[in-house]
Amino acid sequence: MIPSIEWINNKVKMIDQTVLPHDLKFLEFEDYRDVATSIKVMNIRGAPAIGVAAAMGMALATIEYKELPKEKFLEKMEEVANLIRSTRPTASNLFWAVDRIWDIISKYPDDPPMLSALVVEEAQLMAQQDINVNKSIGKNGAALLEDGDTVLTHCNAGSLATVQYGTALAPIRAAIEEGKEIQVIADETRPRLQGARLTAYELQYDKIPVKVISDTSSGLIMRLGKINKVIVGTDRVTSDAVFNKIGTYLVALAAKDNDIPFYVAAPTSTLSLHETVKDVTIEQRDSSEVSNILGKLQIVPNGVECLNYAFDITPFRLVTGIITEDGVYTPEELLKKYK
Ligand code: MRU
Repeated sequence: MIPSIEWINNKVKMIDQTVLPHDLKFLEFEDYRDVATSIKVMNIRGAPAIGVAAAMGMALATIEYKELPKEKFLEKMEEVANLIRSTRPTASNLFWAVDRIWDIISKYPDDPPMLSALVVEEAQLMAQQDINVNKSIGKNGAALLEDGDTVLTHCNAGSLATVQYGTALAPIRAAIEEGKEIQVIADETRPRLQGARLTAYELQYDKIPVKVISDTSSGLIMRLGKINKVIVGTDRVTSDAVFNKIGTYLVALAAKDNDIPFYVAAPTSTLSLHETVKDVTIEQRDSSEVSNILGKLQIVPNGVECLNYAFDITPFRLVTGIITEDGVYTPEELLKKYK
């Protein structure tokens, strides 16, 4: 799959994920405000991808403001950081990326043009590092997969959710590269249908066998013995739980009940182990995303409100292992290593 986001000639180029799978369309932005909007409306989505978009948005802003006197530059950049932080509340990577760029800004505040060059370089480095980290997650996770396995995944934690290669889909890609035969079952993932639209799209694009099921089918599919493992991505890992796309918790419960290993692929940029579930804001999106299928077909009577929590909480007791770029860990081992 081609990169979901790139820095080209001081512009941010990204795949518009809202029109997939019908159109493979690209957006190009020179204004950080447009990048912030693209994160909010989900032209780009997936925790690692929005982290890189946030860094690139900050880089565009430094170019816009680099001729200002240093105090004014810092004031403007603080506003930019706050705008970008306000786009989506749950994925750690967004905040991690803004903080990483802010670190550079606060180290060399005297020379905005030099700062801008450093920030632009850092944003591109973060994009490249994302791909490297995902390849390592792939290698570590591939060891868990056996020839002939069928893996269930939820939402899209693939190439489209990162710069390239994916997190939850990385072990599948790597195992196939090693010569194993692996099939994927993708939950459709209501209401934004990231599984049906995006996971199915990118796997088909890369000729990896995939079938889509309705979200309510995964329990039965497990009971029928049609999958061997679950691998999902994550937006934030706290010291007690994994936050991921709404529906993940139910998949984890069903996996436990059916003795199926439940793995979470998590780059270390997603770890927020100083927090517990109480510290995290779960994004609530507009009721219309549930009442209307992709804004096209209303399926709920006029006047009935829908609850639209974007993420849910899977407690550590349901997690078999967490796959990072460094290795595969039980939740207890993860806490020991990174906390
Ligand atoms: O709302 P989204 O599409 O940004 O949610 C994405 C997910 O929940 C992914 O599973 C998660 O970000 C991990 S992506 C590698």
